[in-house]
Amino acid sequence: MNISACLATFVYMYKLVKPLFFSMNPELAHHQVTGGLRKFTKVWGAKSLLKSIYTLEDKRLEREVFGLKFKNPVGLAAGFDKNAEYIEEMAGLGFGFIEIGTVTPRPQPGNDKPRMFRLVADEALINRMGFNNQGADVAAGRLQKITDRKGLIIGGNIGKNKLTPNEDAVHDYVYCFHALFSYVDYFVVNVSSPNTPGLRDLQEKEPLKHILNTLQELNMKKPAPKPILLKIAPDLTKSQLDDIVEIVTETKIAGVIATNTTIAREGLQSPANVVNEMGGVSGRPLTKRSTEVIRYLAEKSNHTFPIIGVGGIHSAEDAIEKLEAGASLVQLYTGFVYEGPALVRNICKGLLR
Ligand SMILES: Cc1cc2nc3c(=O)[nH]c(=O)nc-3n(C[C@H](O)[C@H](O)[C@H](O)COP(=O)(O)O)c2cc1C
Repeated sequence: MNISACLATFVYMYKLVKPLFFSMNPELAHHQVTGGLRKFTKVWGAKSLLKSIYTLEDKRLEREVFGLKFKNPVGLAAGFDKNAEYIEEMAGLGFGFIEIGTVTPRPQPGNDKPRMFRLVADEALINRMGFNNQGADVAAGRLQKITDRKGLIIGGNIGKNKLTPNEDAVHDYVYCFHALFSYVDYFVVNVSSPNTPGLRDLQEKEPLKHILNTLQELNMKKPAPKPILLKIAPDLTKSQLDDIVEIVTETKIAGVIATNTTIAREGLQSPANVVNEMGGVSGRPLTKRSTEVIRYLAEKSNHTFPIIGVGGIHSAEDAIEKLEAGASLVQLYTGFVYEGPALVRNICKGLLR
């Protein structure tokens, strides 16, 4: 069987197993998928089979962004592999880069379950995970053990513990920065999750500048500083986005990730009881808004800093739209749940067309 036939079979298989996963609680389904993938890759020959089916290697897909060389511009967004447990497995599905986290200094359980919901009619998810993670040191320990990264770029998305007051948040970001520094290629300062009470207040000018300047100061003392990016919410106003452009320019950080999940609920078709769940919406309903944010930031900043575009990428066309709006790279999470693992290769193929 040639590669296209194999891919078609695997796409079909995903269509077959999707109803089974979709009949489970979404968080349980997530663990079944990642656990199943781990077991499968332990079978002799499975890794190379997956690689040959899902990975597309082509010089034309390579990108150099903020001084790093990416095999392809399609990344796994933060939240999928919070604890750096599945790097090898996810890399085998063709991603050019993987962002772990959000990690916090101390481990924390996150919000009570259920905390992830499917909005099937909207091809969306609502989550209020609340930074459930095993802590920055555990993630660092796992990353340390990966000896051959095979050119995979790994990002470290960092946040603050729920119990840390905003006045002390900077210490949490500094802790995570030190813990992960030797093991990640770039950092993401996450101040945009809607699920940690008060976190998004840190997107205001003064607290944000304080966190970014502190990290940049530490970063610049290192012999080889790492790119630091800021991840923002899609719910910011134009004037707040103007502030973001000013802050990125002033603090000289490497770029922006746009966007995190939205608190908006407009236009959703799913039953009201699910739509009204607290948390951030991801997937299809976010596609347009996150692209608007990317376009606005790119134009306002005169394309002076790179943007990673994320939010509702479910097809090659969605990814291309984000790149054309001004993104240099893209990431996805919810599209992967709805479309299956072939999405990454399909986007790469679309980029080559
Ligand atoms: C279940 C879930 C957990 C997430 N956790 C995080 C997180 O810990 N940190 C973060 O920066 N973004 C997190 N996100 C947001 C994603 O990284 C992404 O920005 C957002 O979902 C939009 O992309 P998508 O539409 O492709 O999912 C999470 C998203 C989902 C669905």
